[in-house]
Amino acid sequence: MISERMQRAINAQINAEMWSAYLYLSMSMDAADKGLKGISHWYRQQFAEEQQHAMKFADYLASHSVRVSLTAIDGVRDTWASAEEMFAQTVEHERNVTKMIYNLCDIATEEHDYATMNMLTWFVNEQIEEEQTALDILDSLKKIGDKRVGLYMIDKELGARK
Ligand code: FEO
Repeated sequence: MISERMQRAINAQINAEMWSAYLYLSMSMDAADKGLKGISHWYRQQFAEEQQHAMKFADYLASHSVRVSLTAIDGVRDTWASAEEMFAQTVEHERNVTKMIYNLCDIATEEHDYATMNMLTWFVNEQIEEEQTALDILDSLKKIGDKRVGLYMIDKELGARK
């Protein structure tokens, strides 16, 4: 059984994951507009991954016979000065998402909801990967600075993401 407080918190997280998807779709479109096809592809993959996160939460609630309530998704920014700025915001955003997941863990602990805590373990591990991946790309972009060949190489590499 999932408490109403836990249900509300997971429902809010579904919206947050959809907002993440929306943000990354916007970054994908802006990267395409800047001629960065590989980065655009990477963010398109990220857009799909965030929707999977939202569905993982939604399926979890549904498996406990909880009706999911979908709420409006806030608008997102649509342009960034550079790929570096895009990934800087991605790192910052993923750190915020990690805080949200930890908040869900706190609620699960307070509610003695061990089933939800077990489900959240997947997200705790996922966030370690999400933060590290974005940080590694940001570090590479910082290293190349404004060297166009470096940006070309990174763009090519990110375009290979499966
Ligand atoms: Fe759903 Fe990127 O965390």
